[in-house]
Amino acid sequence: MTRHFLRDDDLTQAEQTAILDLAEEIKKDRWGRKPLAGPQTVAVIFDKSSTRTRVSFAVGIADLGGQPLIISTANSQLGGKESPSDTARVLERQVAAIVWRTYAQSGLVEMANETTVPVVNALSDEFHPCQLLADLLTIREHKGELAGLTVTFLGDGADNMVHSYLLAGATAGMHVRVACPEDYQPDERVVADADAIAVTTGGSVTIFTDPLEAVAGADVVVTDTWVSMGKEEEKAARVASLSPYKVDAEMMSLAKPDAIFLHCLPADRGYEVTSEVIDGPQSVIWDEAENRLHAQKALLVWLLEQQDRD
Ligand code: CP
Ligand code: NVA
Repeated sequence: MTRHFLRDDDLTQAEQTAILDLAEEIKKDRWGRKPLAGPQTVAVIFDKSSTRTRVSFAVGIADLGGQPLIISTANSQLGGKESPSDTARVLERQVAAIVWRTYAQSGLVEMANETTVPVVNALSDEFHPCQLLADLLTIREHKGELAGLTVTFLGDGADNMVHSYLLAGATAGMHVRVACPEDYQPDERVVADADAIAVTTGGSVTIFTDPLEAVAGADVVVTDTWVSMGKEEEKAARVASLSPYKVDAEMMSLAKPDAIFLHCLPADRGYEVTSEVIDGPQSVIWDEAENRLHAQKALLVWLLEQQDRD
């Protein structure tokens, strides 16, 4: 059966754990698995800029014995003349999987509905599930487990990273706290979905407006840019609203003494996080960035294994 990875809750808790276990194994033996021998090609499409996602997918696909085909929509028919569904029908005849960074989640859903090869969300306006696999792998490496940990996200609550933390964290059985102002709240449907998952995993989901209350006693502190791609025009209003949620040394001091700090990067130093924190001893951002590679290789191996079950 073709499995896609469009949102974090496309994986059950057991599947998420299996992929993280595989990522750990792959990290120990980087060139040990080559399921894309052939070489098969994976299309990696970008409607938006990227450094980490582009590099980690290109390197990871090559590590697996395959060939990455990096496509910029600026130089393709997708996004202009051609629909996601027609593009999917063309690509599925030639590639093993499609990875796509885009704007609206609906484009990914349309593509996945029309194709027999796995479609992977490499970031949309709504979710960034590949990043969450890397974040969970990093948290597990530093904390030994996920279930029962408290993770606090501070900043733009309507962010793709928040939606992914809500779903993936709840799936992992974590206590997910989000602190954000009234005008930057997460999508209530995603909060409801995360709540329903948390009931089954022993996790929980809580939305705060007070950042100090939300960060108190946290095991993991996370933030993201206040100005996501496509929102550049809103920068001044966002900085004004989101400033109380900046992660500085004082904010970190309210979390547990052994709390770790994550940021998917790129960071706007001095805005959502100070250099003192992001470069400080509690920050694990470089492990997090490296883990994109291992987590995505595991995801591709797992998706292609599901495909082979037919
Ligand atoms: N974290 C992340 O997705 O980075 P890029 O935008 O550089 O891919
Ligand atoms: N929320 C950010 C994440 C960047 C990796 C954005 O969408 O721009």
